Amino acid sequence: MGLTGIFLISFLIVHCGINAMIFFNDGGETFNHWAHFMGSNLIVRTMEIGLFVFLLLHIVQGLMLWGQNNKARPVKYAVNNASSNSTWYSRSMGLLGTLILLFLVLHLYHFWTPSRFGGIAGIHSLEETSLSAEYNGQAVHNLYLEMQTVFQEHLWVVIVYVLGVISLCWHLIHGFQSAFQTLGINHKKYTPLIKGVGVAYSVIICLLFAAMPIAIYAGWIQ
Ligand code: HEM
Repeated sequence: MGLTGIFLISFLIVHCGINAMIFFNDGGETFNHWAHFMGSNLIVRTMEIGLFVFLLLHIVQGLMLWGQNNKARPVKYAVNNASSNSTWYSRSMGLLGTLILLFLVLHLYHFWTPSRFGGIAGIHSLEETSLSAEYNGQAVHNLYLEMQTVFQEHLWVVIVYVLGVISLCWHLIHGFQSAFQTLGINHKKYTPLIKGVGVAYSVIICLLFAAMPIAIYAGWIQ
């Protein structure tokens, strides 16, 4: 779980970094350029297979761990003052993980499916829009337009994304340091540092992700 978690943590840095280019407010030019690079580069496309395998593995490992924990104590404690022996987010990793999974299903439908298989979620096909992006003289899928379409029109989608990202934030705050602990890195001096970096990473990444649908819905990004 630790290794798959660290791989997913690295993916989120790249994903968030490229998406944050929408904040240049240049009509999506820089963002589309890099999104297209990521979508067409052979090495990145090969890593994408790894990403989905790791994501699936992470979910299966989480479910197995949850099952093992339940089996270890089939008869529940008569008195269980959970808050005194574990933190809220360590007890809620399963619930938060499930919420993130639901968010991901919607998210992949919005962006990944149309970018790989054509069309734009929610509206007509790319050919019908006048806004197909250009890259090296070639018409390519306009993911910036896709973002505008997904977030500009429906408040409920923005709310689901923000809730998904809040769940992700809690999940990461606990998961970051837990991944290092699982790999045996637990040290009086370094563990507080790892925890601090984990909290900073989780908050920055999730604030940036949450700002994307909000900024587009509010019209701050055109
Ligand atoms: C909230 C703001 C977010 C926006 C605007 C956004 C946008 C996008 C876009 C445009 C793509 C398509 C990339 C492509 O096909 O080349 C994508 C793919 C993807 N996103 Fe996000 N994303 C967001 C948050 C997240 C979060 C929080 C996660 C994970 C928990 C995530 C996981 C993924 C995955 C797994 C893919 C498919 C990977 C791939 O294309 O190789 N995204 N996202």
